[in-house]
Amino acid sequence: MNEARSDALAFFGATGDLAYKKIFPALHAMARRGHLNFPVIGVAKSGWNLDQLRARARDSIKNHGGGVEEEAFAVLLKHLDYVDGDYRDDATYAELRRKLGKATHPAHYLAIPPSLFATVVEGLARSGCAKNARLIVEKPFGRDLPSARELNRIIHTVFPEDDVYRIDHYLGKEPVQNLLLFRFANTFLEPIWNRNYVDSVQITMAESFGVQGRGTFYEEAGAIRDVVQNHMLQVVGFLAMEPPVTTYHESIRDEQVKVFRAIRPLNPEDLVRGQFEGYRKEHGVAPNSTVETFAAVRLHIDSWRWEDVPFFIRAGKCLPVTTTEVLVTLKRPPLRKVGDTNYFRFRLSPEVIIAVGSQVKRPGEQWGTESTELKVVQNAQGDQMDPYERLLSDAMAGDGMLFAREDAVEAAWAVVQPILGDVTPVHEYKPGTWGPPQAERLTQDVGGWHDPEQLSDMM
Ligand code: BG6
Repeated sequence: MNEARSDALAFFGATGDLAYKKIFPALHAMARRGHLNFPVIGVAKSGWNLDQLRARARDSIKNHGGGVEEEAFAVLLKHLDYVDGDYRDDATYAELRRKLGKATHPAHYLAIPPSLFATVVEGLARSGCAKNARLIVEKPFGRDLPSARELNRIIHTVFPEDDVYRIDHYLGKEPVQNLLLFRFANTFLEPIWNRNYVDSVQITMAESFGVQGRGTFYEEAGAIRDVVQNHMLQVVGFLAMEPPVTTYHESIRDEQVKVFRAIRPLNPEDLVRGQFEGYRKEHGVAPNSTVETFAAVRLHIDSWRWEDVPFFIRAGKCLPVTTTEVLVTLKRPPLRKVGDTNYFRFRLSPEVIIAVGSQVKRPGEQWGTESTELKVVQNAQGDQMDPYERLLSDAMAGDGMLFAREDAVEAAWAVVQPILGDVTPVHEYKPGTWGPPQAERLTQDVGGWHDPEQLSDMM
C-alpha cells in the first residue's frame, strides 16, 4: 500500500452523468467535513467553461447531494478548475499538467466509458501527469473476462496495480461493510457460520424502477453484467470469506478473491433470466432485445466451509420494492416438527436492518412455538458516509481495501463468463412482480425465494 496522500484530483467525464449524480455530491460532502483541501480539476470535451461547470456542480448538489451548504460549496468552488479538451489531443494533458500546479502526487478519476481508458491513460503518461499518480476507474470494468484482462493490461502499461482503484460502490456502503464486521466482531456467529448450521443463503437486489432512460447503456449490460458480476458477488464475498488476519493490509482482499475462486463457474442450468414487459419499448432498446433485466442464479462454493450450501442471487428491475436484502437460513434443530427455521436477515438498503428469526413459545395452553424476529433497525443517520465520499476519500488517502483488485475482478468475471449472452431464454415478467415464475425452480429445495417487504409493511 502506497500511503502518500494524493495532492490533487483530476476527473475525466466532468460534464457527464456520474460526475453530476455522484462526484460533485461526494466532493461537497468532503468539503463539509473539512477534507477538501486539494485542487480538483474537471476534464471533458463539451465546449464548456469553468462557470458552466460551477453551475452544474451547484445543480448536482442541489438535486443529488441533499442540498447546497454555502460554506462547503464555497470551498469546492475555490478548488474547482476545468480543462475543456479532446482526450486524444496532447494539448488537453499539457493544460491539465499546468493546472495541477505544484501537485506531485495526483489522482486521476476516469468517469468515462472504458473504450476511452487507453486513450486517456496514454495521454496521461505522455504528458507526465501519470508520474507518481493514482488511477481511479469506474465500473463497468470490462464486459467479460477477456475484455477485463485487456483493460487491466492497458492500465498496467502505465499504472502499477497498487496505484489502481476500481470502484464498486457497494463496497463503499456501510451496511455492506457491516456484514464483515458483524460476522467477525461477534463471538456468537462464527461457530455456526458454515455448512454444519447454514442451510442456504439468498441475496435479493430488487429495484421497483426500470432502466430510467439508460436503455442504450443497459442494452450493453443486462442485469448479470450490471450488478451480479460486481455488487452481488462482493456481497457473497463478505458473507462467505474466511476470517481475515490483522497482520497485513491486503488480507481482506485476499480472502475476498479466494471466495470468488472457490465459486464454481456458473452453469446455465443454475440461471433464470427475465425481462420486464415494456423494456423493448424503452428508448435505445432493440425491439427484439433479449437482454435480461432480471437474473436469478444458484451458486456453489467449493470450499471446506460452504460445500453443499446453495447461495442464491436474484436481481431485477421493475420488481415490487426497492431494497437489497440477505437471508441466511439455518438448518432445523433436531426433533423439531413445527415452526419455521431460524435465520439471519440483513437489509442493506434503503434502511439497515439486522434481524434474527427465532422460535418462541406460543402463549397459552398449547406446547407450541411461533416465529418472532429479534430486530434492530437503523435508519441512515448520523455520520454515515455516502459510498462515493467514502471511496473517493480512501483513494485520495491511498487506501485500496474497499476497491476491486485486478485478481478479484477477473475471478468474478470467470464466475459469470459461462452465462453471459443468450445461453438461456429470457422470460417476460410483468412490472411489479418478483420476476418470471421460472425462477421459482431454483429455490424449490430450500422453501422458495424470500421476498423482502417494504419497511412500512413490517413495522
Ligand atoms: C449501479 C447499476 O451500479 O447500481 C444500477 O448500474 C443500479 O443499475 C445501481 O440501479 C444500484 O445502486 P444503489 O446504490 O442505488 O443500490
